Amino acid sequence: MNAREARGSIGRERTSGAPQRRTLSALRLSAAAALLALLLSACSGGGQPPQAAPGAAAGAQGGQAEAGGAPAGTGDTGSASGEALGGSGEAGTSAAPAEGAEAGTSGAENPPPAEAALPGLDASGRPLVIGFSMDTLLEERWKKDRDLFRAAAEKLGAQVVVKSADGDDARQVAQAEAMISQGVDVLVVVPHNAEATAAIVSKAHKEGIKVLSYDRLITNADVDLYVSFDNVEVGRLQAKAMLSLVPEGNYAYIGGAATDNNAHQFKQGVFDILQPLIDRGDIRIVYDQWSKDWKPLYALDNMREALAANGPTGIDAVIAANDATGGSVVEALGERGLAGKIPVAGQDADLAAIRRIAAGTQTMTVYKPIGRLAEETAKLAVALAQGEKPLTSRWVNNGKIEVPSILLPPIAVDANNIDSTVIKDGFHTRAEVYGSGK
Ligand code: BGC
Repeated sequence: MNAREARGSIGRERTSGAPQRRTLSALRLSAAAALLALLLSACSGGGQPPQAAPGAAAGAQGGQAEAGGAPAGTGDTGSASGEALGGSGEAGTSAAPAEGAEAGTSGAENPPPAEAALPGLDASGRPLVIGFSMDTLLEERWKKDRDLFRAAAEKLGAQVVVKSADGDDARQVAQAEAMISQGVDVLVVVPHNAEATAAIVSKAHKEGIKVLSYDRLITNADVDLYVSFDNVEVGRLQAKAMLSLVPEGNYAYIGGAATDNNAHQFKQGVFDILQPLIDRGDIRIVYDQWSKDWKPLYALDNMREALAANGPTGIDAVIAANDATGGSVVEALGERGLAGKIPVAGQDADLAAIRRIAAGTQTMTVYKPIGRLAEETAKLAVALAQGEKPLTSRWVNNGKIEVPSILLPPIAVDANNIDSTVIKDGFHTRAEVYGSGK
């Protein structure tokens, strides 16, 4: 069975009672009918996807098969594709979307009426399957990404299969290959290693599957779409915030993973702002190191080294590439009684960082509303799976092509705007940030 056939089998498996094999002419018929339905809906001004059908919305809230175990929806059909996609992963798909999809359609061979069609259903009314290949689920933000992305996709009627590579390049490629051969309709990839994941793109394209780079850019590959935040701007926001407090002095830069394109973009943004002051002699960079794999332990070593090399009065400000590494910076400063005395910037608006900001040991972070990223990506992944070519107004060079890109704006957060940003958005609750007393 090739990947295209396998894709068909995934759709069948997720909607009970569907025929085991459909002829090409039946496929053409239902595709033509769906096209007609789309045209009708466009004529009636229905260009936007209609709101989620009740069944699909329930699916978005429904229980997820979180760790191990085959998801209920794939059941015991015994199909190889179901086992490979759902049975072994870090997260499976829930049964609910398939049920929701069934409720909204009138059977495999009869296309749904235009007003009932969800964008995440294929021409015959079956949920599209999105493969979500993730670097890791160990950090706070990526669990949020997974949950929000799945909820957003299910709201559109699609299903999501999640695989986490635990920071292992070979595993990420192998997991993606498995999803490709099992016939996902589109792949969304958070690369652990920007270069290594290029292999996923070429393999997916051979099978006619489009690849969307999520948050981090896959480099040197024909990536179909890149959806992220403006990561250069993240770095600029950090540097501007630090400069407003320390316009002259010694800066340490604790970088992220050199294998992650974002880490380079964050750093580029920081130095866009600092360089003129460095050139003038107002700012000196007294330490600048990557932290392998974004691991806080390496960042801790780095910050200890920076302090050892420069002495307790030799560093006036620290910019850390994210909040996890920022936490290590604060820890190392704390070991010398300096926490809260030297401004520290991070990014991600992790709960621990927001609490440090409230407590005064971290100066600022950069908030990236992940819910928006997840929603945009879900819509665009569905569009790619439907064969559409989404329009973008930005392009990011990945070493091979100018990748069509959507870059969402990041927001600087310090002690003054915690309430009007992360708390207002429900990213964290007031009680989580301040404790129940405030
Ligand atoms: C993301 C950050 C994250 C870091 C470590 C980066 O690519 O943009 O938000 O903190 O990876 O996971």
